Amino acid sequence: MKGKRVFITRKLPGEAFVALRDTVRVINTPGEQTLTREELLRTLPQVDGIVSTLADQIDSEVMEKAGSSLKVVSNYAVGFNNIDVDEATRRKVTVCNTPDVLTDATADMAFAMLLAIARDIPRAHEFTVEGKFAGWDPNLFLGIPVWGKTIGIVGMGKIGSAIARRALGFDMKVLYHNRRRVDPDLERELGAAHTSLRELLRQSDFVVLAVALTDEARALIGKAELALMKPQACLVNICRGEVVREEELADALERRVIRGAALDVYEREPEIHRKLLGLPNVILLPHLGSATGETRERMARLCVDNLLAVLRGDRPPAAVNDP
Ligand code: GLV
Ligand code: GLV
Repeated sequence: MKGKRVFITRKLPGEAFVALRDTVRVINTPGEQTLTREELLRTLPQVDGIVSTLADQIDSEVMEKAGSSLKVVSNYAVGFNNIDVDEATRRKVTVCNTPDVLTDATADMAFAMLLAIARDIPRAHEFTVEGKFAGWDPNLFLGIPVWGKTIGIVGMGKIGSAIARRALGFDMKVLYHNRRRVDPDLERELGAAHTSLRELLRQSDFVVLAVALTDEARALIGKAELALMKPQACLVNICRGEVVREEELADALERRVIRGAALDVYEREPEIHRKLLGLPNVILLPHLGSATGETRERMARLCVDNLLAVLRGDRPPAAVNDP
């Protein structure tokens, strides 16, 4: 496999990427930052494989640059909306992602965000380190309860199910909305009831977005949907920013149509709508869903296994198309 040429769009953590250099020819020295589109198009030579991240737009122009030798795009992410999969299939390029290995880390983060927005933890921390704690005060940072409340999970895939499992530990009532109902056994295990999006929005105290970014999911939550939510409800988004109309969310938060929102993802990353930055009832994170060292190692292993399997002519462990 020494003759196989691989381009890695940016430096990625994980022992697997170090070992990869013994197996194939990694033809570039990836930098610490995401390449701009111009840089990517300028520096990408003809290759057999590309390792990409969710911040790289891999479309027909990029695939054209990589040439007809291109066999695989191995994305270091579970989401693959940054890749034109139809175009890849036409070009007989296999697209791979990193599911499963990041499910629990991402569900942990969703729950951390839910608890943090419910109890205003980031602002309470700021208050404390700014020296404002002047003794116990019965009215200080009054939050909302999580225990026993209703969680509405939009997108009941692996991550959504893992969030539901955590919610059970908090004795929460679990509602979910999904294109297809999940297996009845899984519904029973999670104690989860399938509802329309409308009912989910009306009944939930916490709405958590965990859908894949499909055409149906794009701009799923806007002004009208937010207006259905309870005034005391909070929104948590750990999937993709494009699922929410960010400006309409900022307006709803400003007008207190809902209580708060915790966001890990944005419509135009790394840009964040200016209005969101100034609001007191949001928690904004820099896309950290899968960000634990252990998870990143496992993502690296799977990403490399996918890449090498395709280059060897084998079926990769996690492909999203079958050209
Ligand atoms: C992160 O957003 C991922 O898709 O892995
Ligand atoms: C709080 O610290 C309490 O003792 O009620």
